[in-house]
Amino acid sequence: MRILLLVSISILCSMCTSEKAPSNPIFIKYQNPDRKDHHSFSEPDKAIVTHLDLNVEVDFDKREISGVAQYDILSNDADRIVFDTRDLQISKVVLNGTDETHFELGPMQTNLGSPLEVSIKDNTETVAIYYTTSPQAAALQWLSPEQTTEKKLPFLFTQGQAILTRSWIPCQDSPGIRITYNATVKVPSEMLAVMSASNPQERNTTGVYEFEMAQAIPSYLIALAVGDLTFGEIGKRTGVYAEPSMLDKSLYEFADMEKMLESAEALYGPYLWDRYDVIVLPASFPFGGMENPRLTFATPTIIAGDRSLTALIAHELAHSWSGNLVTNATWDDFWLNEGFTVYFERRIMEALYGEDYASMLAVLGYQDLEADVEDFGHSHADTHLKLDLKGRDPDDGMTDIAYEKGAYFLGMLESKVGKESFDKFLTQYFDDHKFQTISTSEFIDYLNDKLLNQIDEDINIDAWIFGPGIPDDVVQFESDKFEIVDKAVKAFIESRQLKQYDWSTHEWLHFIRHLPTTLNLAQMAALDSYYDFTNSGNSEIAAAWYELSINTGYFEENIDQIRSFLVKVGRRKFLTPLYRAFKEAGQLELARDIYKEAKPNYHSVSTQTMDALLEV
Ligand code: BES
Ligand code: ZN
Repeated sequence: MRILLLVSISILCSMCTSEKAPSNPIFIKYQNPDRKDHHSFSEPDKAIVTHLDLNVEVDFDKREISGVAQYDILSNDADRIVFDTRDLQISKVVLNGTDETHFELGPMQTNLGSPLEVSIKDNTETVAIYYTTSPQAAALQWLSPEQTTEKKLPFLFTQGQAILTRSWIPCQDSPGIRITYNATVKVPSEMLAVMSASNPQERNTTGVYEFEMAQAIPSYLIALAVGDLTFGEIGKRTGVYAEPSMLDKSLYEFADMEKMLESAEALYGPYLWDRYDVIVLPASFPFGGMENPRLTFATPTIIAGDRSLTALIAHELAHSWSGNLVTNATWDDFWLNEGFTVYFERRIMEALYGEDYASMLAVLGYQDLEADVEDFGHSHADTHLKLDLKGRDPDDGMTDIAYEKGAYFLGMLESKVGKESFDKFLTQYFDDHKFQTISTSEFIDYLNDKLLNQIDEDINIDAWIFGPGIPDDVVQFESDKFEIVDKAVKAFIESRQLKQYDWSTHEWLHFIRHLPTTLNLAQMAALDSYYDFTNSGNSEIAAAWYELSINTGYFEENIDQIRSFLVKVGRRKFLTPLYRAFKEAGQLELARDIYKEAKPNYHSVSTQTMDALLEV
């Protein structure tokens, strides 16, 4: 009786003293420590955004975007809502359309920017933030007309992932928070604006464009491009935006895009974003591709003329499921986005072009993985799938570990349960988590529950996810095509045999990667005069050859071509190995000299990496 009384008193007390039960179940998931995002100041367990109404003007003269970001919000009885900003000027904040409110910008922190704390009331439904970007905004790249292909008009594009959106829109910049959005964007009337949303296919005379993204997405997927753009159709649901002189080449290169979309759907279920278009950007774009929903942003360096580099499109398309539909909860779970996507990309390529083709991609990927593990050291924590990026730039997690170790982990699972069961599992996974975020431990629980309990064998999931290096049960791919290439490498080294081969880009890449750095200048010259790698129009082949040229000392012969490649192309994947090779070859001054000329053409994502590498 006494015990019962005590218990009931303590229940009563806890009801009156501790916090009230959350008013909306949406807040509960953010109380899970597993979901804590160390790269955002926002407090989604207290107050959260659900929809964005963006109304901005793009000013090319001032290199500024300014206007208002109005959010619909939900509050868990909070008296403030916190946003992420970086280098933004905030002029005022208005609640419910009419009431100006108090706000405070906190101190600037490296990479993270400044928290914007806005006072709200019980009845607050909307928060409108009036702001202007800085000309240095990290997400934005403003190109002069000379830096475009057409050379007539300037160009602007944004890059949000991982935490750069906050430098052009005040937002709750965490992959675990999803919003729908509408946007009205005013640009100079001779230019077209496109976003990761419903898009215009033609210019209008006013320069004002309206956009709608009706599916909820995380902030890193909000994107904008403005320039001298035209549209061309590929299929019913697919098309390409590009500068006029790039359009036909792009349409040719991506002719199979509609088929890619159909193969992806056949593998893992319906495409839920309506259209799938690609925009081919100027060469300074820092990535190969970026999976902005409905509109992949792509580098022009995949326009090889022979459709050989389109796995990148399959990759970005695959993100429409892994990443955009089911999103990593924090950047520590980045492998859930990229590992799944690489696996999915290769399944699309296999469905379209056969097993041999996909195996070549997988073997090249394994070579990248081994190189990364070697560079980090086999027991380094950055070789775990689940990362710990607290206090670091989430960009540090963008290594081949997330991509290739992630994909090989799924390949191992596939080999244990068979392709059919594994495909069924993945289809169900995407459907069960659509428009949601997922953490690594939630994925492990789901995996155990839905797949692994069906098999007897013990699988060491922890070694893959929480352990270093490449576990022993990795399932490697073999490529007959590459075995032939290996023989050709040997024949060249042993007897200087040079032959014309009817090879694909991937075979040539395997060939160049396997030429030893001990080749002498005469051997390099013989290869170059026979195959003309230095003048290859294929960016992957050229970049691999330039790296070998630097490592063997041959670069003095093709330095002009290497320099013009580095000045024109801003894709970090190519820049890092080339500048690093110069540095390691004792050519730091030469590297800095090239970088000085090239830097004005690079996006901040690339300059940040190169500044650190070249210590400038
Ligand atoms: N989402 C990534 C690009 C990214 C990752 C940007 C992390 C910023 C932070 C995109 O899907 C990607 O992986 N691109 C690759 C191409 C791919 C074929 C591996 C790239 O750009 O090289
Ligand atoms: Zn990706």
